[in-house]
Amino acid sequence: MSKPKVLVTRLLPEKPLDLLREHCTVDLYDKHDPMPRELLMDKVAKVDAVICLLTDGMDRGVIEKCYSVRAICDVSVGYNNVDIAAARERKIWVTHTPDVLTDATANLTWALILGATRRVAEGDRLIRKGGWTGFRFDFLLGSDLAGKQLGIIGMGRIGQAVARRAQAFGMEVAYVPSARKRKRPMSRFDDGLRATPMPFDELMRTSDVVAVHCPLTPETHHLIDTRALSLMKPSAYLVNVARGPVVDEVALAKALREHQIAGAGLDVFENEPTVHADLLDLENALLLPHIGSATVETRTAMAQLAVDNCLAVLQGRRPPTPVPELTDLPIYS
Ligand code: DGY
Repeated sequence: MSKPKVLVTRLLPEKPLDLLREHCTVDLYDKHDPMPRELLMDKVAKVDAVICLLTDGMDRGVIEKCYSVRAICDVSVGYNNVDIAAARERKIWVTHTPDVLTDATANLTWALILGATRRVAEGDRLIRKGGWTGFRFDFLLGSDLAGKQLGIIGMGRIGQAVARRAQAFGMEVAYVPSARKRKRPMSRFDDGLRATPMPFDELMRTSDVVAVHCPLTPETHHLIDTRALSLMKPSAYLVNVARGPVVDEVALAKALREHQIAGAGLDVFENEPTVHADLLDLENALLLPHIGSATVETRTAMAQLAVDNCLAVLQGRRPPTPVPELTDLPIYS
């Protein structure tokens, strides 16, 4: 029997790739940049499964070319790059990589919170420019965290992991409960984590650090806009490790430039890899190139989970981590 064919849109760590090659014929696009759309459309038409990244636009046009594809396996937890309705119409499983990247992403969130509130990158830039003239008592003053409120938008796995770490810094945690999930929001989670549920506006008004961890959907696009930013305290910080378009970058740059808020830490941007020019010369914006899950261990675990998902579907088993909207698709024999 011939092996199933799998398109892998980017070079993955060796071990998961070797496992995939044992069971499948792999068409690997081993460039650093995303595959051009025309090529992607051409290649998906010839395979049984696709392992792709968040930078691959698996939109309706591409999915319509997926004539024999049974699984689209994103190597990311966020799957806003895949048109889920189009995948359902073709009965294509869509899988993602939750859990394995929770700690790495929560840790990077804290790198941004600490980096922004303690002006870490600003200090580094200053030294490299030769601008440090010696210790001064009132120089590069930042903000303490103890006793302050961390407001979390998107209290899923990563949001909760960020909240748990907040206890170590003596912060109180508030969060916006998901309108869909619970009628009575929790203030104590299963592992004892305490967090106060709060309406969005109240959270924006009262938090000292607002951390964004919600998925990008039509409802969350530009959730943090001029109005939302205007609610924040002038001493507050915004951190976004979710998806760029949740924050209106032009509005944020204006709020930072005019010191309506104290600072921001961003790992994601509206039009990656382009960062809005208005943000680039702001000392109070700490900018990172979408590295939330970028550790050797985590990226290897993500690739392994994507391969496990892919092999499960191709071998007639239920994939371990389908996206929640598509858990009821047929198991292919
Ligand atoms: C994800 O998995 O959604 C992250 O953004 C990738 O680091």
